Amino acid sequence: MEKVIIFDTTLRDGEQAPGFSMTVEEKVTMAKQLEKLGVDVIEAGFAAASEGDFEAVRRVSEEVRNSTVCSLARALHSDIEKAGEALEPAERKRIHTFIATSPIHMKYKLKMTPEEVLERAVDAVRFARNFTDDVEFSAEDAFRSEREFLYRVFEAVIEAGAKTINVPDTVGYAIPEEFGQLIADIKNNVPNIDKAVISVHCHNDLGLAVANSLSAVKNGARQVHATINGIGERAGNAALEEVVMAIKVRHDYFKGVYTEINTKEIYKTSRLLCRITGSFVQPNKAIVGDNAFAHEAGIHQHGVLSHRETYEIMRAEDVGVPESKIVLGKHSGRHAFKTRLQELGYTNLSEEEIDKLFVKFKALADKKKEVFDEDIEALIFEELSNIESPVELRYFHVTSGDKLIPTATVKIYKEGEEVIKTAYGDGPIDSALKAVEKAIGVSGRLKDFSIRSLTYGKDAMGEVRVVVDFEGSVTSGKGTSTDIIEASIKAYIDAYNRFFAKKTVMERKISEGI
Ligand code: KIV
Ligand code: ZN
Repeated sequence: MEKVIIFDTTLRDGEQAPGFSMTVEEKVTMAKQLEKLGVDVIEAGFAAASEGDFEAVRRVSEEVRNSTVCSLARALHSDIEKAGEALEPAERKRIHTFIATSPIHMKYKLKMTPEEVLERAVDAVRFARNFTDDVEFSAEDAFRSEREFLYRVFEAVIEAGAKTINVPDTVGYAIPEEFGQLIADIKNNVPNIDKAVISVHCHNDLGLAVANSLSAVKNGARQVHATINGIGERAGNAALEEVVMAIKVRHDYFKGVYTEINTKEIYKTSRLLCRITGSFVQPNKAIVGDNAFAHEAGIHQHGVLSHRETYEIMRAEDVGVPESKIVLGKHSGRHAFKTRLQELGYTNLSEEEIDKLFVKFKALADKKKEVFDEDIEALIFEELSNIESPVELRYFHVTSGDKLIPTATVKIYKEGEEVIKTAYGDGPIDSALKAVEKAIGVSGRLKDFSIRSLTYGKDAMGEVRVVVDFEGSVTSGKGTSTDIIEASIKAYIDAYNRFFAKKTVMERKISEGI
């Protein structure tokens, strides 16, 4: 059996997508869950890209022990040095250096000749070897590169010490059969290919990232770059959960290969990413969507009840989808609450954190009869969110109706002061968000607003996600409450706090001349 190495780039390519940015602490939280999931390599960021990325690679290097930690670096000494420095504390480290090899990228983006690109690639790999033996080289836009040149580049970088050569379909242009053929051709035409692992990195512009990655595996690739929920630049990257489950479920087809992913951690990892980034996955998303294991049609239900395999190719438990349980109510005590937290896997909470959560749980249980696991997780996430909150909601009041002008008053805590403002708008949410903007003195452009219920029943907690453009910087935020206006205000404030955190880092960089 040959292992397919799972290289997770959620924290690098995934995080690059607008609305998916994460703070350093959020990246660390995510990295720890990725380690639990059993990914072989965690690409924690692009150390030279920003101070935040450097810090994230460094912190993940300090915290993660079982997965290899990786930083991206352009084929430049300065980038590679930064990557090496950020990765210093890592138990296992990898530098992933890249340069584009397609005619269009070399001519218009790099303004370099193919010979110069080849020389730079070799030099970068050699230089990266000063920091670690584990060097991966990517030929950006490999799929649109000229074959003979691509073979030469791969041969030369392997000679220079690259242990992995990565074949990106940077623009998501490939069709599975062609992409598989490219991998087979690389195997047959790069003379020293047996000294390196062939890796692939597929984008999803035509919805084929997973199919292309699997076709590559079938043709000899032994590493796949992927992201949780398929997030990433533009239409995203290959979804890790889909690649892994396809290899597992169809082991008859993918004979002789396996991954070391602990598939029971898939659902939890997907949910954590949604919570951290404030994103949702579509209900019909394979493996982790809400409907992925739901059987609505009577004929399907009947089939599944009499013999599960009639309509099910895998079990919800295989990917860790929990059975939603009514766990607690307003009479539940602290002991029951703590026990449930532990059952949900939150074993590292301090007594003080549990106390705070318990107070919030009691307040929630007063509002809604039944408290579900999802409700508890929302509380945990809110309480333990790593975002600093320069702005907080203290109070709100809204009047609305079909015969009056919706008006909202909010009391906001900002920079040590409490500010009360009132505004009117098209509806209760519009007026509430306008009042918040007045109070914080910033106005943003709401680009997206979505709401969904976290559990069942009319009293379910609502989860609101907003994407807001503040001063040209697109930031997402989320909020949960049994009251959708409160959830909307919290989501908007969360987006502002994230924007504020980003802006503070930028301003510091400018003042320090970085
Ligand atoms: O899409 C791409 O080509 C990349 C490389 C840096 C691997 O993200
Ligand atoms: Zn990419």
